[in-house]
Amino acid sequence: MIVIKNEREIRAMREACAVASEVLDAVCGFVTPGVTTRDIDQFAADRIAIYGAKSAFLGYRGYPCHMCISVNEQVVHGLSGTRRIQFGDILSLDVGVVLNGFIGDNARTVPAGACDIEAQKLIDVTEKALYEGISKAVAGNRVRDISSAIQTLVEANGMSVVREFVGHGVGRSMHEEPQIPNYVDGTSSPKLRAGMTLAIEPMVNLGRAGVEILKDGWTVVTRDRKPSAHFEHTVLVNDGSPEILTCRCVKPSALKVSS
Ligand code: MF3
Ligand code: CO
Repeated sequence: MIVIKNEREIRAMREACAVASEVLDAVCGFVTPGVTTRDIDQFAADRIAIYGAKSAFLGYRGYPCHMCISVNEQVVHGLSGTRRIQFGDILSLDVGVVLNGFIGDNARTVPAGACDIEAQKLIDVTEKALYEGISKAVAGNRVRDISSAIQTLVEANGMSVVREFVGHGVGRSMHEEPQIPNYVDGTSSPKLRAGMTLAIEPMVNLGRAGVEILKDGWTVVTRDRKPSAHFEHTVLVNDGSPEILTCRCVKPSALKVSS
């Protein structure tokens, strides 16, 4: 069943998403060569707490960190620890928060300092693919229209979309229907309706599409160990233009800040 949110629920989603995007923005500003991934996770935990929110990831199916930090060939769900970030690394940073019972989900890939041209192109294509997908998140379209827009842009640039992980509906639960693949297959595809809130999240590999999971049980890496990028927004479907909820669209001053 696909949940359609009413006005009150949409307002709550806006606030949760505003916090997620505020935190992600701050985390991106914190990333610099020399910090450890654990430093970044702790920074995220502190920023989430400032807004009186909670990490939506910590404890989810036993996930042990406050956010996901996936470096270079790591695709998603990377765990933090003693690893020190080096100049030229690219970091996929994924923040999910719960506020007043609703979840905001937001991710972005950034270089530490700067990265090589190939990696920067990967980042740019993945971000562009996200916005191509979002532009199709309009009532009357189908999920497949989002998937197709993403896949077409990525493959036109000689890169590949990950198959094993997909975007999703989001609201009171982190993973609601529908699933939003970043590729098209023959299966039936739900129609989009106003009031759906969707996490659209292309995961793009510079090399081949294949991925595997490391022995830690979480970290997804590319099989060919070439770099991967990940961008994600939580989006409200409307009859007209979609609203990107994770874009700091609620003024921070309107959010309750504790301490
Ligand atoms: N943005 C990811 C997702 O939507 C984050 C989940 S990480 C997990 O699936 F640890 F919570 F699983
Ligand atoms: Co997500």
